Amino acid sequence: MGKVVLGVTVGVAVAACAVAALVVGRRVRSRKKWKRVVGVLKELEESCETTVGRLRQVVDAMAVEMHAGLASEGGSKLKMLLTFVDNLPSGSEKGIFYALDLGGTNFRVLRVELGGQRSNVDPDVEQQPIPEQLMTGRSEDLFDFIASTLHRFVEKGNDSVQYSITKELGFTFSFPVKQTSVSSGVLIKWTKAFAIKDMVGKEVAGALQQALARKGLNMRVAVLVNDTVGTLALGHYHDADTVAAVIIGTGTNACYWERTDAIIKCQGLLTTSGGMVVNMEWGNFWSSHLPRTSYDIDLDAESPNPNDQGFEKMISGMYLGDIVRRVILRMSEESDIFGPVSSRLYVPFALRTPAMAAMHEDDSPELTEVARILQDVLDIPDVPLKARKLVVKICDVVTRRAARLAAAGIVGILKKIGRDGSGGIAGGRSRSDIKMRRTAVAVEGSLYTQYTMFREYLHEALHEILGEDIVRHVVINVTEDGSGTGAALLAASHSSSGSVQLISFYTVGASNNDDGDEQMTETSTTDRPGVARTEEEEQEHQRMAHVTYLLNAIVDNEQMKFFIFPKLPTQCDNSQSSMAANIEVTMAETHADLKILLKKRPRRLSKLVGGLQRLKLTVINLNVTTADEMALYSISVKIEEGCRMNTADEIAESVEQVLLGIQQEAGFS
Ligand code: BGC
Repeated sequence: MGKVVLGVTVGVAVAACAVAALVVGRRVRSRKKWKRVVGVLKELEESCETTVGRLRQVVDAMAVEMHAGLASEGGSKLKMLLTFVDNLPSGSEKGIFYALDLGGTNFRVLRVELGGQRSNVDPDVEQQPIPEQLMTGRSEDLFDFIASTLHRFVEKGNDSVQYSITKELGFTFSFPVKQTSVSSGVLIKWTKAFAIKDMVGKEVAGALQQALARKGLNMRVAVLVNDTVGTLALGHYHDADTVAAVIIGTGTNACYWERTDAIIKCQGLLTTSGGMVVNMEWGNFWSSHLPRTSYDIDLDAESPNPNDQGFEKMISGMYLGDIVRRVILRMSEESDIFGPVSSRLYVPFALRTPAMAAMHEDDSPELTEVARILQDVLDIPDVPLKARKLVVKICDVVTRRAARLAAAGIVGILKKIGRDGSGGIAGGRSRSDIKMRRTAVAVEGSLYTQYTMFREYLHEALHEILGEDIVRHVVINVTEDGSGTGAALLAASHSSSGSVQLISFYTVGASNNDDGDEQMTETSTTDRPGVARTEEEEQEHQRMAHVTYLLNAIVDNEQMKFFIFPKLPTQCDNSQSSMAANIEVTMAETHADLKILLKKRPRRLSKLVGGLQRLKLTVINLNVTTADEMALYSISVKIEEGCRMNTADEIAESVEQVLLGIQQEAGFS
């Protein structure tokens, strides 16, 4: 009996030990798996880091790329497209105007009645999702669908009675278009979910006009605009301080008001206002300073447009959900915290951004919305609270990065136009010297308007980058249906005017062998975002993006006289020497402006730019003015870290040495 009792006791003890060992083993394994998952999150956080220092680098890169894109065709991944919109609606517009807005997941038809005197714009709007097959089918089908929708819309209104009168139509087409006038342009490429092959390279307004004719609609496409441009028009209509517009929705982009003389690639552009709206197409912006993760690289590689729209793929609504899906998939593969790997996790775009935003903003203590979406959308049931919290964190990291990068993009524009309080890219004046003007930016797009966390992160970053003193002067205004309504307003303001005259274009070509003709930039980029480039290539690109060789064909004789009789103390006049160059340098903080007057010589300019780079002076802007045998180089440089020169005189002397070196090498007398 005693033996039996002992036997049972020993047996129970052994079993208890085995269970305990199992439990401990399982706990250790589960702790290890959890550690792995936390490691994935940590790695994500690190590679998405957007410190204010990094954001400022993005700001600078954006401003520099803007310069490069304005300097020459292909000078930057930023296309900086002319819009031929040289006047924004004044408020005096009158009449009934229609607009079509195509570009996101929805398509809108609008009718706007304007009464002059900056009356309230209260458009009739009809919205319709675009059938998916039309986004990738034939262009004729897409345009017929648009025209039919418009036809039904017009018929419903009261205007059909006066149908003998041609109606003016604004067409918002939210893709990169090379405009040939305010009402015509050719599609460069599709972005977002559109991919209609036969349309690329075709005239967009023409395709619509033909579809309108097929439907018997008596309408004329008065303006063809990007959605950013429509938004700017409405933003400016409500707030005259509006200088730029940004869309952060399915896709992302910005446009802004630019002086025509700064649009160097289009010499001879005359507008009555002296300015023009430039469509940046910032979705394609790229810089090595952008924090890129392995998920971004995979997303890009698997997208229908690899190596394209790099900035957009980090920011816009089309992609954020998919980045999050990729992170959850990785975690799921590395551990079983989400149970067996759900096959839905392998489906591209299975998690859309609105669902992701809903998880991010779930403030219920049990994260019930997160649980529901994981179950319903990704087919992952019974996720423990701990893992649900992790999902919220992933959404947070991805959204925060996107919003902060968008903020950096906005400040980049402000910097380019001298509204960031720093005196512009070549200004270098200290913040205290600058009297900041009130500056408004119109914003539209569901990510900004409907995603509170996104909006808050964006504002927070604006504060951090600009600082309290400056950010006070910057206003972000949300426009409602601005992309479409603005197009109707522009149709009104441009229907009778034809003020833009294009005299000539300078086009990018091979480098020339004469200073006077050297009109192009070597900044032309391959059409790949940073990943595809090696680090060295990327650095070289960044450097070359600074090196914009700009030719100013308008000879300013007054300026020439000034340099022939130099007056400023920081000049290095070696007119007695064999080189005979007058060099004037003005310096402000980390920037310097060089004015060099000398005799024209072949191939010298590119060597000079190379020499400046070796001196750690990065060329931001370069103008060449010629008259007779003389050339005047006006060069803005950024003084990089490690530059040995501290004063304007030292720079002038070093530049002179560079020029002498070039001269000796070439054997000029
Ligand atoms: C397009 C832009 C557009 C933006 C926002 C981008 O994908 O390239 O033209 O403005 O989306 O809709």
